[in-house]
Amino acid sequence: MARYDQLGTRNGRTVSEPGLRQASGNNLDPWYGAYAARTAGLAASEVRALFAVASRPEVVSLAGGMPFVSALPEDLVTDAMNRVMREQGPVALQYGSGQGVQKLREQTLEVMALEGIEGSASDVVITTGSQHALELFSKLFIDPGDVVIAEGPSYVTAMVIFKSYQAEVDHVPMDNEGLIPEALREHIARLKADGKTIKFLYTIPTFHNPAGVTLSEARRSEILQIARENDILVLEDNPYGLLYFDQKPPAALRSLESDGVVYLGTFSKTLAPGFRVGWALAPHAIREKLILANEAAILCPSSFSQLVISQYLEQADWKAQINTFRGVYQERKETMLSALGEYLPDLTWTDPTGGFYVWLTLPERLDSKAMLPRAVKELVAYTPGTAFYADGDGRRNMRLSFCYPTPESIRVGIRRLASVINGELDLLDTFAGTGSLTSALSRGPYTAPPPNMS
Ligand SMILES: Cc1ncc(COP(=O)(O)O)c(C=O)c1O
Repeated sequence: MARYDQLGTRNGRTVSEPGLRQASGNNLDPWYGAYAARTAGLAASEVRALFAVASRPEVVSLAGGMPFVSALPEDLVTDAMNRVMREQGPVALQYGSGQGVQKLREQTLEVMALEGIEGSASDVVITTGSQHALELFSKLFIDPGDVVIAEGPSYVTAMVIFKSYQAEVDHVPMDNEGLIPEALREHIARLKADGKTIKFLYTIPTFHNPAGVTLSEARRSEILQIARENDILVLEDNPYGLLYFDQKPPAALRSLESDGVVYLGTFSKTLAPGFRVGWALAPHAIREKLILANEAAILCPSSFSQLVISQYLEQADWKAQINTFRGVYQERKETMLSALGEYLPDLTWTDPTGGFYVWLTLPERLDSKAMLPRAVKELVAYTPGTAFYADGDGRRNMRLSFCYPTPESIRVGIRRLASVINGELDLLDTFAGTGSLTSALSRGPYTAPPPNMS
């Protein structure tokens, strides 16, 4: 057992690993030096405290990625629950298989077929949300120092997991057609030349979180080809694929290649995240390891949740319900884009064809992270772009979510955001030539115009 002589030392030795300092987070923690090095990646986000404020009802939050579950008729879910309890109560309340309920695994095949995927129920592993599948997959593949290639930007909580297994995340840029194949080739060549071990490519090809873009059809086969040539496994994370607006997106990567792709799906966005049910479709050998890892971590996914979802899929018109969600999100996205056009016409943003998110680019002089406290003061919240890069990039970007607030709130939120952005630009102009914004701000508090509460 370690002995603690003073803050930052362990057994008389200075604890200099940055991870340990960040992970403990608080010098009053008596276990400061005891945490495993891998907890370095578990440092709390700097904007977390602000988000607690941002969850107050008077704040329009464009920050979270919560699905609008109120669009789900409660009776459909209640009926499914009642029926499960009436007909299979003892099974629903019992432990189950580490791979998941057979019938639900078969039903996931029907869901995946909508995106062109063919597979076998025996290769499906049910997990506690796709988040848990990301965790299990990372546990199976990442050794300290391995490289995970991901889009830049990428899903924040996947990167938290990768880092918790001490991976280096290498971001490959995207454009409006998604991941750029030439950039992927260059990054792989550079990483190999540096002697790095690339473990997998983590990608959200469809309605990307946070960028809102979709990998074009032509690029899908090219990306797979590059992965194949370089023996790189592809982890395709696809929570949003069925939530398209006008047009279906190109077929999933997994529909084009089965041996080199592990596919993650979830019921969180097409039904409700409260059930915490997702799944992985994996090549046979990987599936075997995923089941063992699932059992080691949680014994089995929730029998109750799985049976309720299975019942819901059997008795409800779930495809019609997904269409309802699509309509809700499309209206919100259109409202957000029209408000951006009206209030922030000089900025640029992505135009998602499905999913939950818009990625906004600020003028070069602005910093979305530094601006967030002022935005929250003005009663609007967003997620700064830096959250979505492992390397601190993204200062000029922010993610705006249109999934949860009503269209009216979205308009109010964008109007407030415009007032914050324009206020920042005015401030910079005022102090232009008199030093940096930081020194300008340190001379006195920022006086934002009063929030417009309408
Ligand atoms: C890209 C991506 N992957 C995985 C998840 C996790 O989803 P869940 O664990 O609810 O299935 C999310 C949630 O927002 C996500 O956006």
